[in-house]
Amino acid sequence: MKIQFLGHNAWSVTASGYKILIDPFLSQNPAASCGPEDVEADFILVSHGHGDHFGDTLEIAKRTGAAVLAIAEIAGYVNQHGVSNTLAMNLGGSAELPCGRVQMVPALHSSTLPDGTPGGNPAGFLLTLKEGKTLYFACDTALFGDMAILGKRGIDFAMLPIGDLFTMGPDDALEAVKLLKPRCAIPCHFSTWPPIAQDPEAWKLRVESETDTAVRILTPGEMLETD
Ligand code: NI
Ligand code: MN
Repeated sequence: MKIQFLGHNAWSVTASGYKILIDPFLSQNPAASCGPEDVEADFILVSHGHGDHFGDTLEIAKRTGAAVLAIAEIAGYVNQHGVSNTLAMNLGGSAELPCGRVQMVPALHSSTLPDGTPGGNPAGFLLTLKEGKTLYFACDTALFGDMAILGKRGIDFAMLPIGDLFTMGPDDALEAVKLLKPRCAIPCHFSTWPPIAQDPEAWKLRVESETDTAVRILTPGEMLETD
């Protein structure tokens, strides 16, 4: 299983030979490690409609034929923009993929599509891979107490925003780690632009001194590989 950080909240997960892209914001992303033409995908998970998450979903889906998994409002928008291979989901629902199960879980945020169309509720994703690892992508969210319930699933890797202003900042992301109790936390959604600049090393020190969770900081393009 491989988790590659592509910058901001864009991720590529490879499991059982399948590639899952999450929030492929690349062409307009000053922190992106590659362009939309460089990625491959079997599935694209879109957390919400904001441009820094919806990103290059349409272009990548058209080129690769990947299925777009998103909340019903966003799946409908994707259909209207020339991509028919979508799976509309909603909060709490799961879908069975050949490499595991993906559940759409709540996020506390807002969601508007690039043309101003309402994007439904924002979401996070819980991936339970057949290879035996559980991944939680919080995506854009505030801290919420039900993270403790998600933590009961036994999370191996939690991808958490620490940028503040639009999402949790370092303090609340530390509280999120205490609720989720992941084996490893990976910070994201910071320092893409100056208003969300954060020091991930300082956050790592705090998390590792106050919890049993290890923090792994990935620079854009970097890949974490586990058995
Ligand atoms: Ni957002
Ligand atoms: Mn965002």
